[in-house]
Amino acid sequence: MPRLGVAYYPEQWPRDRWAVDATLMAEAGLSVVRMAEFSWSRLEPSPGELDFGWLDEAIELMAKNGLDVILGTPTAAPPAWLIEQHPEILPMRADGRVHPFGNRRHYCPNNPDYQQATREIVAALGQRYRSDERVIGWQIDNELGGRCFCEVCRAAFQEWLNDRYGSLQALNESWGTAFWSQTYSSWSQIPLPEGGPVPLPDGFLRASPNPSLALDFRRFVSDSYLRYLQLQLDALRARVEPCQPITTNLMGFRFPEIDYHALAESLDAVSWDNYPLLGRDGRWSSPALSADAMRGLKDAPVWVLEQQVGPLGWEVVRSPRRGQMRLCTYQAIAHGAELIVYFRWRTARYGTEQNWHGVLASDGWPGRRYRELAELGRELEGLSDALDGSAPTAEVAVLHDYDSRFALQVQPTNPALAYEDTVQRHYEALRRLGLGVDVIAPVHALSPYRLVVAPSLPVLDPALAESLRAYAKAGGCLVLGPRAGVRDRCNVVPERALPAWLDELAGVEVTDFASLLDEREVRFVGVDGLPAGTFRGWVEELQLSGARALALYAEGDFAETTAIASHAVGKGRVVYLGGAAELETLLGIYGVLAPEAGLSLRDLPEGVEAVPLEGPRLFLLNHADEERVVALDGPRRDLVSGTTAAGSVRLAPFAVALLEPVPAAVESG
Ligand code: GAL
Ligand code: ZN
Repeated sequence: MPRLGVAYYPEQWPRDRWAVDATLMAEAGLSVVRMAEFSWSRLEPSPGELDFGWLDEAIELMAKNGLDVILGTPTAAPPAWLIEQHPEILPMRADGRVHPFGNRRHYCPNNPDYQQATREIVAALGQRYRSDERVIGWQIDNELGGRCFCEVCRAAFQEWLNDRYGSLQALNESWGTAFWSQTYSSWSQIPLPEGGPVPLPDGFLRASPNPSLALDFRRFVSDSYLRYLQLQLDALRARVEPCQPITTNLMGFRFPEIDYHALAESLDAVSWDNYPLLGRDGRWSSPALSADAMRGLKDAPVWVLEQQVGPLGWEVVRSPRRGQMRLCTYQAIAHGAELIVYFRWRTARYGTEQNWHGVLASDGWPGRRYRELAELGRELEGLSDALDGSAPTAEVAVLHDYDSRFALQVQPTNPALAYEDTVQRHYEALRRLGLGVDVIAPVHALSPYRLVVAPSLPVLDPALAESLRAYAKAGGCLVLGPRAGVRDRCNVVPERALPAWLDELAGVEVTDFASLLDEREVRFVGVDGLPAGTFRGWVEELQLSGARALALYAEGDFAETTAIASHAVGKGRVVYLGGAAELETLLGIYGVLAPEAGLSLRDLPEGVEAVPLEGPRLFLLNHADEERVVALDGPRRDLVSGTTAAGSVRLAPFAVALLEPVPAAVESG
């Protein structure tokens, strides 16, 4: 059964309160507490003067109440004295201004003084709690990220490039520095790019760096955090017992700066922070996609190290509805979380996060949220057998590629191609059809899936194209979105027909495109049973070279030509979408393609999420604030309510059901 816990900051509360908190936590059925991740100035009040006494006491109190501890390394918030000693630790923004002390994440990951200070504090913590049985894991730093543009980073970038290209000649050729006389004759000449696309009043974006440099800079920033993480991993692994797994809390799918696939390789476990109601769009598919993307990093259960428990916000506050805390917890569990740590125990009285509400209100009184949490803990306990054997299953994979994502940050091209939204639309359409979906790196094994979708893959190379070909040839159905293969790994336009390296596989050639900045719709009509639909903002002209048309444009410059193409390849097929498809359109497309790939769909009312599990069980989550009725294809027992349903199941607003087939004997008896 998934364990529940909370983030606790003993350093923010009077010592004589800690015992009360620990008791209340235990009484609510919590069994894990995360501490210390922002406590550097308490652990080391002045240079070299370490004070672990308070943490020892807090850990001891927790242990006495049966709570296991996850310890954070405190490096997301370097203390004022350290910044005073080494002001150049502060990161530099793209505009050259220094990120001041007074918030958090005020460090440059490449700064050698900061790296040294990090080694020392992490080593000291590791040494202290290395074989402490009360400590069951480590969280490194907190939500790594932030791009720094300081001189140290610039030199580190030049060195990174030297490692990658080996010679200036290779770099000059790969980047095409003949353009605008950018040829480099020494590594030290290479600049950092500007911060990012700068919106201009006319709606255009200007960021003039060489796109190859800009892509490499993003990789370099990502690698800088990987190295900074590694430094902490080394300091801990040299000391702590392997039974204390080490992780760092990631930020879900939407965080665009670090290649989480690469980063996760070095972690013992993947963990992330889940604020389902923080997203601007409020769609259930956002946290679902994040959860699946995080699970896909290691194909293993994940820890949620921060889970929203109440109203949240900094300057502006957003409240969950009654029942949503429980619903969102179930959603995280359905998607593979084995530990859920709520953020935070008690609402802060002071500091930036007074508006991030905890389990307890700021007055410390155990109120409604506390009671709901305790009740949820008891409910989960009752489901523990079922949940233990119920990992999410998937026959569909959505490919998530950081090179493509970084390249689109450099050249967004058209808002209709926005990486995160595009992936989310495809993902949501597949989930709305009731399919189990994994979100994985393109290098992941594809053969377990009947359907593989690459919604946005502008950056490609022959090796990846080959693995996609092998997948389709062996019987898979591969769906490619527009703009596939328009850049190589150096962000240079391939010297061949588009989609580069995939043209033969897809049986099409892209001969032209229309970038419609007015977000104009272009309708298409289906052929062979595909329903009509619309693309918006971006359409491509396709010339068939082996594929057949699945849809034809009904209007626009490409009217009557192919809008969607399907190419039989070996035992499988490749479908190429010639435009940016809207959600409703994708529902229509996958509604045909998925059954053709041998998948069965579910008829789900709006707002109801279905997550197929091993078992075979099925989670139904009603995200709507109205009752929903879901049709069933046979009798099912709902393990949450303990009732059996035949033709359909009713879900109250924000309700959850965990269904399993009723054994035949019971059914007939
Ligand atoms: C997270 C962060 C926490 C806390 C929380 C609410 O992103 O890791 O430390 O700040 O947001 O603001
Ligand atoms: Zn820097």
